[in-house]
Amino acid sequence: MSEVNIRQVPNDFAASAHVNLEQYESMYRRSIQDPNTFWAEQAKTYLDWFQPWDSVLEGNFEGEARVTWFKGGKLNVAHNCLDRHLDTRGDQAAIIWEGDDPSEDRTITYRELHAEVCKFANVLKAKGVSKGDRVSIYLPMIPEAAVAMLACARIGAVHSIVFGGFSPDALRDRIQDAEAKVVITSDQSLRGGRKVPLKGNADKAAAQCPSISTMVVVKRGGEPVEWKEGRDVWYHEEVAAAAADCPAEPMDAEDPLFILYTSGSTGKPKGVMHTTGGYLLQAAMTHKLVFDYKDGEVYWCTADVGWVTGHSYIIYGPLANGAKSLMFEGVPNYPDNGRFWQVCDKHNVATFYTAPTAIRMLMGAGDEFVTKHQRSTLRLLGTVGEPINPEAWEWYHRVVGDGRCPIVDTWWQTETGAHMIVNLPGAVDMKPGSATKPFFGVEPLLVDDQGNEITETPAEGNLCIRNPWPSMMRSLWGDHKRFVETYFKMYPGLYFTGDGARRDEGGDYWITGRVDDVLNVSGHRLGTAEIESALVLHPKVAEAAVVGYPHDITGQGIYAYVTLMAGEEGDKALADELVKLVRTEIGPIAKINLIQFAPSLPKTRSGKIMRRILRKIAANELENLGDTSTLADPEVVNVLIDNRLNK
Ligand code: WTA
Repeated sequence: MSEVNIRQVPNDFAASAHVNLEQYESMYRRSIQDPNTFWAEQAKTYLDWFQPWDSVLEGNFEGEARVTWFKGGKLNVAHNCLDRHLDTRGDQAAIIWEGDDPSEDRTITYRELHAEVCKFANVLKAKGVSKGDRVSIYLPMIPEAAVAMLACARIGAVHSIVFGGFSPDALRDRIQDAEAKVVITSDQSLRGGRKVPLKGNADKAAAQCPSISTMVVVKRGGEPVEWKEGRDVWYHEEVAAAAADCPAEPMDAEDPLFILYTSGSTGKPKGVMHTTGGYLLQAAMTHKLVFDYKDGEVYWCTADVGWVTGHSYIIYGPLANGAKSLMFEGVPNYPDNGRFWQVCDKHNVATFYTAPTAIRMLMGAGDEFVTKHQRSTLRLLGTVGEPINPEAWEWYHRVVGDGRCPIVDTWWQTETGAHMIVNLPGAVDMKPGSATKPFFGVEPLLVDDQGNEITETPAEGNLCIRNPWPSMMRSLWGDHKRFVETYFKMYPGLYFTGDGARRDEGGDYWITGRVDDVLNVSGHRLGTAEIESALVLHPKVAEAAVVGYPHDITGQGIYAYVTLMAGEEGDKALADELVKLVRTEIGPIAKINLIQFAPSLPKTRSGKIMRRILRKIAANELENLGDTSTLADPEVVNVLIDNRLNK
């Protein structure tokens, strides 16, 4: 590991950081040895409770993996994110919104956001939404998305956000699974100067969702939309007519806060369910300590609220801490590749948090897009979503951060709710490409394929977590059995992350990527099974196998092997059709890069597709294909190699 270029956080940063190394080590020790006392203290420090809890942690990862945190405690997330700040910072910005068009922006204070949330909560109530009901949100990055989330939280409704880049079919599946009563959308969304007909998509989805009685429509794009009387209402009209007084519902710490669908290695997307108290605590605490957030600073996470990063680090964590959270509607390359840095200057951004794919893309566009902007207020940079390659790290550090800003590499997942492994700035040295050390209360470990813990160091293996942490998901919506089978069966008594990792001599963790059949394209999770199901819908397709391969910008690209029905010919036109089909079924984020038509796929004698071999061929790594002797027909592999597309 001698080639690792260890970097220290600059002294002046470290001197004022919330946590130094000594504090990190002693707090970490306590968090593991005595989690109940540790987390009780944190819960009192970070959150406002209407009523204290009966027990801190109950349960473990054995059996049904039923876990509770702060059971019996009563609190409300919207109260914590809004009401409690009104006396001290009512007139301070809560959300600084920057539109797709650089001339459009809006600052919303805590008082204004509170008023709007109360009104919209009353609208939801009037539409028959009460505690425990589900509300689907299919919105672009506009302040109303934050209002909708917090309004649900205020009345105890469970929100399920569906990323605006998902197709009508994907939205339909998610609404149906959650049995949502209401869907909130906008006429159009606006990204990179282009309009996407969100309401049109929502109409198509809702037509097959009998549970939906109301569609609330925010006016954003301004183009005409179809209207279904009795179901559709305009957001602005309803809010204008609503009362501004809406008490925050006292929720049990274990009441559900939201469902967020994410891709797994098999079957349909899973409805990851998060609850109230533990989730908000770890989101708030990590936001403050990992980003070393200081009161009054402008903090910017570039994610979309449709992903977990947007939930925890645009809305819940920052607002619980009374932060100024910047919300950006647009894209990094519109009007040009300097947009991020132009926005940093315009709003005096101190913390900037983005994904490696965006960094790689901007790195390719050239330094001048960065250096023509000042970036003088930047203090800290962050990355999330996939492993960051050292070159991109160095560029981010040297060019974007002028060598002055520490970078935090945050490893976590939709399922974990908040940061899990991360180099706390001021406490832990930076190693480009490594998320380094566990956050408080998190016990990572490596296991081999047989499930034995690997105790030596350095080592490489499957990344598991030993004990419950406050912001962990509690279940999969409506399917606790799948929850147990997906995460706790493979290595009994442990949570299996689906990621591989390396532990270096210093005990620091390096995430190497998914070891299951989940793809990570531009930091977005996609299941190979979902893409395959879409491909086989085509009447000419007999069978499909999808794998990821290394891609310079998006981290992974999507490579599909397709076997056609007897007598069919694969050509460019058919490949284009298949790409389009997958886009229609799942959404524009599921863009296949390469399609190889294959007369047959390598299978074991029991008929299982050997994905390991397909991955190697897609990656153009032919030296070490491994054992092919168990294949039913080893010759198939040579045909695939001869016709491979990534040479
Ligand atoms: C990957 C996103 C390396 C990992 C918050 C994980 C990362 C998946 C990092 C979860 C990181 C996330 N370094 N890999 N800092 N952060 N990942 O659910 O494979 O969309 O399992 O949550 O992203 O993706 P998800």
